[in-house]
Amino acid sequence: MKLSSFLYFTYFGIKTILFKKREPILGTVIVTDRCNLHCKHCSVNNITAVMHPYDQIKKEMQLLYDMGVRILFFCGGETFLWKDENHNLRNLVIEAKQMGFLIVNVVTNGTFPIDLPEANLILLSLDGDKQRHNEIRGNTYDIIMNNIHNATADNICLYMAINKINKDYIRDVCLTARNTKNIRAVSFNFHTPYPDTKELALTKEEKATCCEIISQMMKEGAPIFNLKNAFPYLIENQFPTPCHQCVVIENGKLSTCGRCIEIPGLCEQCGYFFVAEYTLLFHGNLKIIFEMLRTYLKYI
Ligand SMILES: C[S@@+](CC[C@H](N)C(=O)[O-])C[C@H]1O[C@@H](n2cnc3c(N)ncnc32)[C@H](O)[C@@H]1O
Ligand code: SF4
Ligand code: SF4
Repeated sequence: MKLSSFLYFTYFGIKTILFKKREPILGTVIVTDRCNLHCKHCSVNNITAVMHPYDQIKKEMQLLYDMGVRILFFCGGETFLWKDENHNLRNLVIEAKQMGFLIVNVVTNGTFPIDLPEANLILLSLDGDKQRHNEIRGNTYDIIMNNIHNATADNICLYMAINKINKDYIRDVCLTARNTKNIRAVSFNFHTPYPDTKELALTKEEKATCCEIISQMMKEGAPIFNLKNAFPYLIENQFPTPCHQCVVIENGKLSTCGRCIEIPGLCEQCGYFFVAEYTLLFHGNLKIIFEMLRTYLKYI
């Protein structure tokens, strides 16, 4: 990370903690909800299947920038499906950088060739060993591993949503992250139980076991882009929600934290690690502040 970006985030953090501010720093633009997959745990694909137009996405990026957002995510649906005439996802990433966003990340299912060297991180979903991943995501594991191998930069961070199907395969994903070319790290979430996927949610005991395994893998030197000090809060679902420093925009509609904020009772069962990590950080949790500094400087 550049020194200027580091100083910007440090100033934002101090201001937010001291004055209990609620201004956003992390924003997500949903470029489309269209997707080529229908994963078992996912409730947000192909609801409208609309590709949002380039001009609209540019306006949304500008709006987020003007609100103070400096960490931008492009998400979907499947982001690599997005295009509008001469524009593709890579153009959006480059324009976001030119606009002044300090960190620009993309979330993808990894089933398309990966040529996004300008992104800080490409969060690429891998949901276990081959058998568990394919059970959740269809027969895509080999295609994805091949795309990772042929990627044009080493900016890939695996992204695993841990649920009842793949909870025993955390170690496999950590080892894949450690041993595969072009992969920088792995980041985890627990399944967030939307009304149609409640059966995939983990119990407290299961979450505790997962956190023990992740902690053990951290000790063994696996590159894990999460904060160990947030685990007790994630196990008990006792972190503050929603995250007021995070916003999402989809088709002109702005939401605090996630699109899921509208689903009654979901925030109390939220499994997204970034929510725990950011809300604890901005509530001034000292252990989280120091661990985040160390972790972010290592992987971004
Ligand atoms: C909605 S997908 C969109 C981007 C891309 N299609 C992908 O699969 O990475 C973004 C991430 O959310 C995760 N996800 C989907 N439903 C989830 C849920 N109910 N709880 C936790 N993570 C979930 C996916 O596994 C993926 O890593
Ligand atoms: S690839 Fe991503 S958006 Fe598509 S169904 Fe799977 S999790 Fe959902
Ligand atoms: S806290 Fe609520 S709105 Fe935010 S990601 Fe979790 S479930 Fe969604």
